Amino acid sequence: MDRQNEIHVTSHQLEVVKSIEGFVGEQLNSLLMNVDESWQPSDFLPDMNADNWVERLTDFRQRAVALSDEVLVVLVGDMITEEALPTYQTWLNRLHGVTDQTGASPSPWARWSRGWTSEENRHGDLLNKYLYLTGRVDMRSVETTIHHLINNGFDPQTENDPYLGFVYTSFQERATKISHRNVGVLAKRAGEDHLHKICGMIAGDEARHEKAYKLFMTKIFELDPAKAVLAFAHMMKSKIAMPAMLMDDGRDKKIFSKFSLVAQKIGVYTTKDYAEIIEALVNEWKIEGLTGISGASAKAQEYLCGLSERYLKLAERVSISGAEKFSWLYDREIALAPVV
Ligand SMILES: [Fe+2]
Ligand SMILES: [Fe+2]
Repeated sequence: MDRQNEIHVTSHQLEVVKSIEGFVGEQLNSLLMNVDESWQPSDFLPDMNADNWVERLTDFRQRAVALSDEVLVVLVGDMITEEALPTYQTWLNRLHGVTDQTGASPSPWARWSRGWTSEENRHGDLLNKYLYLTGRVDMRSVETTIHHLINNGFDPQTENDPYLGFVYTSFQERATKISHRNVGVLAKRAGEDHLHKICGMIAGDEARHEKAYKLFMTKIFELDPAKAVLAFAHMMKSKIAMPAMLMDDGRDKKIFSKFSLVAQKIGVYTTKDYAEIIEALVNEWKIEGLTGISGASAKAQEYLCGLSERYLKLAERVSISGAEKFSWLYDREIALAPVV
């Protein structure tokens, strides 16, 4: 069924998105990095052109030996998520009013969308090369999963609506920031400082992108609070779908939920984090203090204000058990019982 008929982007919404285009243009220099000053994946990888490249590569691989299978699985899942970037750029370009009409449009929204994509492109690139060079994971299986994921696509149920879209990205950028940062902490704990630094750089980009999307949405809240709060509540009711939920290694259609369980187990991304993100966004957009709204919008406001508490209670009840095999790790098994 085509859900486009259920949610209709109004002409007023399009006017709002158009009216903040100038503001977006003014902010671009602080929201995106200057390319010439930006980090690149090769800054964090062994220099294969150096005379002592073998030594450098050996050092690099030795450091990665410290990583546990749990950390590797989560890093692989995060990398695969990043590598499905073509899907996300396509999605971003479908949002009404934000579309890059020519592919090289000078409009602020189009410049944002290409700038965001080009920064994100470094994430999958760096993590992919990192993992390949460690020699610790089955790269063919990982690549097959990326191939399937891009092939399967992703439907976050944002219906090409820019309000729903920017709520989604505000949430998702914060979620990826948390996830990369936590993998970095675990890497450091294991003694792999280099991966800690890599994850920190990526998390820094995610933090800047989170700031951008929150800012776009703040502007929308200023101009159209009644509809903005409805959009926020709508996304929370349908729950934030993870961008890589349709991943498949060709053998196991449940590989995404297995990866999510490992992330939950080692504390990289948990139900508690989900609750924390809701709370942060409710505070950011000052939902409690919204005035002048009534009817469905006032109900949405009330729903949102109590929501993170509900997820926190749910988080207390999460329990995982059993063990799972991962093709990414040559079928090695990971116990899912939490570490005590
Ligand atoms: Fe990313
Ligand atoms: Fe991101």
